[in-house]
Amino acid sequence: MKKRLSVFGLGKLGCTMLACFASKGWKVIGMDINNKFVELVNNGKSPIYEPGVDELIENYKQNILATTDVNEAITNSDVSFVIVPTPSTNDGSFSTDYVDAVAAEIGSILRTKNEYHLIIITSTVLPGDMQQIKDLLERTSGKKCSEDFGLCYNPDFIALGSVVRDFLNPDMILIGESDKKAGDILEKIHRNLINNQPNIHRMNFYNAELTKIALNSYCTLKITFANTLAEICENMPGGNVDHVTDALGDDSRIGRKYLKGGLSYGGPCFPRDNRAFAKSAEKFGCETPLAVRTDQINDYHRNERIPKKLLDFMKSKQTDQISILGLTYKVGTQLVEESAAISIINALTKKGIKVKVYDPAGMDEAKQELNDLENITFSDSATECLSGTKVCLISTPWNEFKNISADDFVKLMDTEPIIVDGWKLYSFDDNSKLTYVQIGQES
Ligand SMILES: NC(=O)c1ccc[n+]([C@@H]2O[C@H](COP(=O)([O-])OP(=O)(O)OC[C@H]3O[C@@H](n4cnc5c(N)ncnc54)[C@H](O)[C@@H]3O)[C@@H](O)[C@H]2O)c1
Repeated sequence: MKKRLSVFGLGKLGCTMLACFASKGWKVIGMDINNKFVELVNNGKSPIYEPGVDELIENYKQNILATTDVNEAITNSDVSFVIVPTPSTNDGSFSTDYVDAVAAEIGSILRTKNEYHLIIITSTVLPGDMQQIKDLLERTSGKKCSEDFGLCYNPDFIALGSVVRDFLNPDMILIGESDKKAGDILEKIHRNLINNQPNIHRMNFYNAELTKIALNSYCTLKITFANTLAEICENMPGGNVDHVTDALGDDSRIGRKYLKGGLSYGGPCFPRDNRAFAKSAEKFGCETPLAVRTDQINDYHRNERIPKKLLDFMKSKQTDQISILGLTYKVGTQLVEESAAISIINALTKKGIKVKVYDPAGMDEAKQELNDLENITFSDSATECLSGTKVCLISTPWNEFKNISADDFVKLMDTEPIIVDGWKLYSFDDNSKLTYVQIGQES
């Protein structure tokens, strides 16, 4: 018989997990303190924007119940996933306040529950945090971990925009376990859930916590290395970063993923995880100059290198205005947090540049993020954004931008506009009147 599952936190990750479990036949009870989220889920709707989640919740609503009541969630399940926020603190590490609050409530309910319960922390935590969560659960429940209840750390390695696919087809599964029984139950849940057969790595809490945070830190290193190659290529006769990274990526010691020269990394995970990796190492008396320097170099790319390039182009066109298409940190999300575009806009407006912006999904978030800045015009469409400008930056590779032709650019913009493309979306023929500049190519 399948275990009954509960999911604490119905946000971007938790809601997707709930939907995926329900789609594979589990009865899942979702718990969130946000009444609106609970109501939406109970009405068969997703409270978050993530491709595929709405359909899963609608199609499998008979397997889903949402509640704001912790007691209801715990007494009606055998296994609980906790996926609440772990926001960054000022010193770069993560706060476990939300996880602690959930753990304390779960603990107090376990006090009177006679059956074994497995608690799984999926929120990203740092080395040492699981030990504290275990102590907290033992204190509040009056029970013993590994005997009366089990505890696992089971972070996800998903990317926003493809969470459903990533969750059901993981490259690997990471389990930090209090004991073998807890790990066995969780491994079985995953084997019954996923569509592929990846390695499942089981280990103690500390090693799992380090693995999770090291992975994103390593990705930032790779991205930044590719961006450094992009800068060299831009300044080297005939330089083309794609030629270099395509070849490098074919070497199995290196691999192709996250090795594309472009603007900079951003979003809610990479920058903060890299900072947290460095902070975690300090706790054990170790230094991580690679991680620290990676962040500094990333800041250089987004705050200096790209803005300088754009300023030079604007100067050549004698304009103090630019259009920027794409504000989210990647496609398939509404999030603009630490996106390349936001940093570039900040840098340019500081120099008095007027910026027109448009994004198919991230306008509301961008309006909040850029609220304090003068000289920003928020456009309702790509055409409105381009209109009347002489220089344009493509900063997120949304599909709708791919359909803009060379003629469209020329018609809407200047007779000889400059298009700076961070994503190599176009292959205009040489006869077009525009100047097409690809990031990472000598221009
Ligand atoms: N979103 C991602 O791409 C991603 C990827 C990997 C890891 N993570 C990690 O997963 C965790 C959650 O991230 P997210 O993006 O889903 O966050 P989110 O902010 O989208 O959602 C968190 C949810 O938790 C709820 N919540 C807060 N306190 C609660 C409580 N006491 N009881 C029940 N629910 C509560 C909130 O109302 C919210 O709905 C974080 O630790 C994050 O680092 C996220």
